[in-house]
Amino acid sequence: MKIIMLGAPGAGKGTMASRLSERFGLPHISTGDIFRENIKNGTELGKKAKSYMDQGLLVPDELTCDLVTDRIGQDDCKKGFILDGFPRTINQAEALTDALGKKGQQIDYAVNVIVSDEKIVSRMSGRRVCPKCGASYHLVTLPPKAEGICDKCGTELTQRADDDAETVKKRLNIYHEQTEPLIAYYNNLGIIVEIPGDKNADEEVAKIAPLLVEKD
Ligand code: AP5
Repeated sequence: MKIIMLGAPGAGKGTMASRLSERFGLPHISTGDIFRENIKNGTELGKKAKSYMDQGLLVPDELTCDLVTDRIGQDDCKKGFILDGFPRTINQAEALTDALGKKGQQIDYAVNVIVSDEKIVSRMSGRRVCPKCGASYHLVTLPPKAEGICDKCGTELTQRADDDAETVKKRLNIYHEQTEPLIAYYNNLGIIVEIPGDKNADEEVAKIAPLLVEKD
């Protein structure tokens, strides 16, 4: 099963994707995480991506599309995948449709995580992430069991560089201009599944999971 996650920055795409990944045993592929890993390792890709990400801008399509088409061609994606953060532009969506079409495949579901803009900024300021395993928490709504420590691997949690209020506002504007049109794109294909991003994540995933059935 091939699933993409749609939604504004901070809507909860990563949170929902990780739960769907556990539930269906599919790899969770986050372009944001791939870029952050490259930044941490000081690669050429990381250096280029950082200059855009720190400003809240999208990384150019030419650095992003090949990276994703290579990744979804790997062995662990044979049964499917959950793409989180890609596609983000119509150009990326078309590149993905073309790459899968060459193999006689298509995206099965586009899961759209819905949260109002008003909630996003406060949510991002409270987000803490695990630099080791990528787990995401919120100081108020999804706190870790021990303060400042990842439940999954025990690493000290950190705050993302692009989670300051000004950068978040810029990311939201870019979302509305460039990424929101993807909802109509995938609606035309009849594969949108909506999920609220401001309710209990486990309960909401339990509700939509039965709708996500294997397609031929
Ligand atoms: P990326 O890492 O993809 O960031 P994003 O899309 O802006 O989304 P976030 O990761 O910030 O949020 P999310 O929706 O996953 O929410 P989360 O689950 O963490 O991309 C970063 C940057 O990389 C981009 O700005 C761009 O520069 C670049 N990039 C990446 N992909 C690209 C592409 N394809 N093309 C070009 N550039 C690209 O949740 C947020 C917070 O809310 C957390 O604290 C969480 O604990 C909390 N929360 C989540 N769900 C709930 C809930 N149900 N109830 C209460 N709290 C919740």
